[in-house]
Amino acid sequence: MSARPLQEIIRPEVARLTAYRVEDRPHRVKLDANENPYSLPAPVQTAVQEALARVPANRYPDPEGRALKRQLAAVLGVPPEQILLGNGSDELIQMVLMAVGKPGATILAPVPTFSMYGMSAQALGLRYVEVPPAEGFALDRPLFLRKLSEAQPAATFIAYPNNPTGNCYDADTLRAGLAAAAGLVVLDEAYVDFSGRTFLQELPLHPHLLILRTLSKVGLAGLRVGYLVGDEAVIAELQKVRLPYNLNALSQAAAVAVLKHRDLLRQQVREIVAERERLAGALRVLPGLAVFPSEANFLLVRTARLAREVFLGLLDRGILVRDFGDARYLRECLRITVGTPEENDALLLALRQVLA
Ligand SMILES: Cc1ncc(COP(=O)(O)O)c(C=O)c1O
Repeated sequence: MSARPLQEIIRPEVARLTAYRVEDRPHRVKLDANENPYSLPAPVQTAVQEALARVPANRYPDPEGRALKRQLAAVLGVPPEQILLGNGSDELIQMVLMAVGKPGATILAPVPTFSMYGMSAQALGLRYVEVPPAEGFALDRPLFLRKLSEAQPAATFIAYPNNPTGNCYDADTLRAGLAAAAGLVVLDEAYVDFSGRTFLQELPLHPHLLILRTLSKVGLAGLRVGYLVGDEAVIAELQKVRLPYNLNALSQAAAVAVLKHRDLLRQQVREIVAERERLAGALRVLPGLAVFPSEANFLLVRTARLAREVFLGLLDRGILVRDFGDARYLRECLRITVGTPEENDALLLALRQVLA
């Protein structure tokens, strides 16, 4: 018997998806992925190299990532049993979905937001319900509470600050949501270092709250290290869907070394926040551009012209940003990651030319 056609083999919900794509056109200034534009400070680089040299590559990594969890536990002030490590926070989103995703289960998220909540939910055959935004990308409290009550989601994902809009939702609205939510609530604090706002201290009040973090945005995107913090019983259940060696030994060792020197990374965060404010001010005076307030390491702008044209004009000048021009609720929007002062100046120069 011959194999069935591929369309009959692949699950329809997977066939309907489009794979996550990253722009690969040539550019000299990369402002599209919300990365830290700076490399690690020299002393941290040395510490990482020394740590990596000691990793026995012939052995499997520590499946529990104990050294890294101990470091994180000390930084966060929680016991290691409350921490789950992931190969980037992307993987932790998938683990939460795998653990709660009974057939027919619903996942809820205010939108527009980080695309992986919806993509991973759909890939697992789960129903993904969106809460449309209020004015200025705020969270519409009555609508949010109504959707929570109607959908009874197995998990709710909320990015705080949100990507790609940059704003933090009203904290009391989120607390009302936490009180009303039937399932787990994942508060994704990927950009916490730039906002200074966290719900970490509220974990003891809400056993179904999970705080999702990543080391990607403060300079370690290439290492793929994310972590989830929550109630010990919830973390113990999520552990069951984790692949044994999900975090490789090199990433574990490097992350431990970096966390020991985290004071040195704080200076970079301060510089990025200062540049965000300078860049926002300079963008606001450009004609045909609206700039949304941001508490993250990027700025969302809306162009009076077609966003695609502005995006391509910038790319012609070697500057890569992220084009959301066709996305629902984000018509003619571009997301610009805050770069170094030189990169931001190059962006401003190019943008002035493109908009002229
Ligand atoms: C809100 C949010 N969560 C999670 C991620 C994924 O981060 P990681 O690199 O840890 O997978 C991103 C990346 O852009 C993000 O914006």
